[in-house]
Amino acid sequence: MNYFIRRPWDLPQSVHTEESVYRDRKQARRDFLKSIGLGAGGLAIGGLLPGCGKPTLEELEDAGAVTVDTAAYPAPPNGAFEYGREETAREEAARFTNFYEFTSSKAVYQHVDKFEPTPWKVEVTGLCAKPGTFDLDDLIKLAPLEERAYRHRCVETWSMCVPWTGYPLHKLLMAVEPQAAAKYVLFKTCNRPEQAPQMAIPRYPWPYTEGLTLPEAMNELTLLTTGIYGQPLLKQHGAPIRIVIPWKYGFKSIKSIVEIELTDQLPATFWNTLNPHEYGFEANVDPQVPHPRWSQEWEWMLGSRDRFRTQIYNGYGDWVGDLYGS
Ligand code: MTE
Repeated sequence: MNYFIRRPWDLPQSVHTEESVYRDRKQARRDFLKSIGLGAGGLAIGGLLPGCGKPTLEELEDAGAVTVDTAAYPAPPNGAFEYGREETAREEAARFTNFYEFTSSKAVYQHVDKFEPTPWKVEVTGLCAKPGTFDLDDLIKLAPLEERAYRHRCVETWSMCVPWTGYPLHKLLMAVEPQAAAKYVLFKTCNRPEQAPQMAIPRYPWPYTEGLTLPEAMNELTLLTTGIYGQPLLKQHGAPIRIVIPWKYGFKSIKSIVEIELTDQLPATFWNTLNPHEYGFEANVDPQVPHPRWSQEWEWMLGSRDRFRTQIYNGYGDWVGDLYGS
């Protein structure tokens, strides 16, 4: 499914994809080729099959478009944030996405047609004085939207630089008034197997959940995100609302959230439940801590495939080092 030409330093897909997923994908491909009368010898012509060309930006945006009020976009940029490298082309970010509810391939845009991100509500529950359910419109008006140029680092070693639109999550958390006993924040993605095909596969611990400590959730960088590239989020990027946490591996940046719970318990998270040995709860970007199956010392950019040395906390140490005593 990958479109790129592998370079000597690129890890094979089998390395930076969860093993069971990789095996399933290989099997699905074999089954498909068998179904059209091609055995193993037919693998080489995969690129010639219909639908395998690069989609245009228009096609990607059509596939992922959501009908929401666009009046608040683009939001004013926050000058405190710079990528320090080139921005990723919008089409590169939109066609190479991770959203396991729809597919374990990167071509999520091909599987989101049934997904209906409007109307949408987010419930804020748990250890807070003012729990509540917020419509998307209410949430967007809760604090001024701004645009932030963030680097994003996936645990699989790819990275991108994209402008997200949103506001710091602490604005919402302060509005619900966390109680002193609250230590963690749990996030939940919607649970809609009828709209998201992979959610019908029971061996995954659906719905996708993620979590932060309360101080991490209150950090200025943690962004409640409703837009990207000056427009509302596309479905494949987690429409209509997600979290972006730029100093942690991308799997913490949970998409299409419907619930935020303040709790005194360490939240069970999707990847940590599937494979605790490989996906820790904290998941801070750190070049010195290899993934059990690959090094984290380098990363490569979507589109250009330029390589950069991975930076501790993805280069955001000035913002978050205090959280970890560094
Ligand atoms: N959120 C949900 N609900 N489901 C997912 O599969 N994938 C995560 C994260 N959020 C994921 C998710 C991973 S692994 C990454 S790297 C980022 O989303 C990718 O964000 P992007 O696809 O918008 O680039």
